[in-house]
Amino acid sequence: MSLPGLHAHLESGRGDRLPVRTKQYIQNLLKLNMEAPFGPEWSDEEKIKRRDMVAPEARYIFVHEVSDEDADKALELRDVERPCNCKGSIVGFVHYRFTLEEEVPVLYVYELQLEHRAQGKGLGKFLMQLIELIASQRNSLLILLLFQNGMGAVVLTVQRANPMAMNFYICKLRYTIAAISPSKVNPLGPEKNYEILCKSLDNEAQAVLEVFQLDKALLCIPGSLDTSTYAVNLA
Ligand SMILES: CC(C)(COP(=O)(O)OP(=O)(O)OC[C@H]1O[C@@H](n2cnc3c(N)ncnc32)[C@H](O)[C@@H]1OP(=O)(O)O)[C@@H](O)C(=O)NCCC(=O)NCCS
Repeated sequence: MSLPGLHAHLESGRGDRLPVRTKQYIQNLLKLNMEAPFGPEWSDEEKIKRRDMVAPEARYIFVHEVSDEDADKALELRDVERPCNCKGSIVGFVHYRFTLEEEVPVLYVYELQLEHRAQGKGLGKFLMQLIELIASQRNSLLILLLFQNGMGAVVLTVQRANPMAMNFYICKLRYTIAAISPSKVNPLGPEKNYEILCKSLDNEAQAVLEVFQLDKALLCIPGSLDTSTYAVNLA
């Protein structure tokens, strides 16, 4: 696949089949991107993430960067229906799982992590569109075996101290704060550091996971992805 400024090769993976070097890569990128948003909670969170990362249920999409020359070669080989073995180093990944939330089958995005140099090129948006496509596939054998009817929604968790990601999901990709998110379940309770976001794919899931959000318009100021905007409006 190609985006302006980035040629990439996508590869799937499973948590219990990750090569040692890939595990190391994931740990390093997670620390680099997430230590700041988690703050003092990071050391506990890092242990949980290291365990989650290698679970058999963990599904991955890895993004390998491809050089301009290799991208040209891949195109030529595609014309003669031959695969190109020309993937470069990993620049990001998605970790997702098929699971249940409030008895609704959902695709839960555990992580979407891109290296700094791969950010802002449309890759995050592309990967989330791919995730929504995977979730909406009703003819996947795995999904049919596990859940019979396909996924009702895509769900994910975002740290409130990560306003760029909040903006990305809510304002750019039209995710909503889920009815199961702490701020919706107990609005007057102690403030949690995270929100659970969702995008429903059918009416049944929408009825369970989404609440009418009058505040959504207030969360997204049109045309703005200023990192301070979301935090201010959510507060
Ligand atoms: C959050 C993240 C996944 C977004 O992916 P990305 O590839 O950088 O975002 P995209 O390039 O696909 O951008 C999608 C839209 O958001 C906008 N956008 C993304 N990052 C932006 C930024 N830092 N500043 C301004 N706009 C930004 C783009 O302009 C684009 O808008 P458009 O569709 O109107 O053109 C990525 O930046 C990342 O990995 N960040 C660090 C880890 C992280 O926070 N992960 C999320 C944890 S839940």
